[in-house]
Amino acid sequence: MMKEKLEEIRQKAVSEIEKATDPEMLNAARVTFLGKKGELTAILKSMKEVAPEDRPKVGQWVNDTRKAIEEKMNAAKEKMEQEQMNHRLANETIDVTLPAKKHKIGHRHPNTIALEEVEKIFVGMGFEVVEGPEIEKDYYNFEALNIPANHPAKDEQDTFYINKDILLRTQTSPVQVRTMEAQKPPIRMIAPGRVFRADEVDATHSPSFHQIEGMVIDKGITFSDLKGTLQLFVKKLFGEDTKVKFRPHHFPFTEPSAEMDVSCFKCGGKGCRFCKGEGWIEILGCGMVHPKVLKMSGIDPEEYSGFAFGIGLERIALLKYEIDDMRLLYENDDRFLSQF
Ligand code: DAH
Repeated sequence: MMKEKLEEIRQKAVSEIEKATDPEMLNAARVTFLGKKGELTAILKSMKEVAPEDRPKVGQWVNDTRKAIEEKMNAAKEKMEQEQMNHRLANETIDVTLPAKKHKIGHRHPNTIALEEVEKIFVGMGFEVVEGPEIEKDYYNFEALNIPANHPAKDEQDTFYINKDILLRTQTSPVQVRTMEAQKPPIRMIAPGRVFRADEVDATHSPSFHQIEGMVIDKGITFSDLKGTLQLFVKKLFGEDTKVKFRPHHFPFTEPSAEMDVSCFKCGGKGCRFCKGEGWIEILGCGMVHPKVLKMSGIDPEEYSGFAFGIGLERIALLKYEIDDMRLLYENDDRFLSQF
């Protein structure tokens, strides 16, 4: 009796398992036949009705049946998983012959290329590259550079104020002061960086642009050192034939001060469209560091002297790469940038 019943359960289970087409159906069969409330468990529960001497035998039959169903079930599960895997392998193939997506690499900015060239030249002459903050104290940007509160030079360099004492620096010259405060002479440094002015945007102006400051402080530094250094610099930057011309100028933090022109590297000085017929192109401001500035920075002007200069980086980039509108430098258009 019992044996037939068990055989019947086994057959029913096998046929359910065979009918199963997905894991849910298989699981349903597991619950029906092997689960806590399943048919085999029900039989185990009715063992008390079996005569004690028959119990081991019946118990064995129940176990055999359970094992048979489990084996069938596991085999079906394995088969199902294998089929699923085959299906995925067939569907998720990659066509390795397809052309790859282009990986687009950016391009160095003309400002960066020009700056690296300038840095290389000065580092070659023993200069150190230093940096100062873009958000600067009024003291370093003006006061310590001999531009007191009511000086007209402050109007020419109107900027963005954070508060009365803190502003966006209008020039890299404050790095001169910071360097003198931090280091003892001899000092040979350049300080590149971003500067700000309350200027309208046009072909030659931007409220944010870049300068490269330079300064040398030591015993016995003269204007000849300034001329020799800057002449060598422009020869390396624009070519061996480049000539320089110094025009007297005024900067509050240098005395004497000058602006330096270079002979036009397009026409060699004859005058062309590029140099607007002048033959010369203005390139930087410079001068001997004012004794007052040295003193305020803690350097004895009786013992030391020095020269300083300030170069507009964009101006160099525009000249070197013959770009006629500064705004192009700030658009970050890859088609423009990748030409340099
Ligand atoms: N800071 C000046 C400017 O922004 C440029 C300059 C002139 C820097 C003369 C110097 C210098 O170091 O000696 O117009």
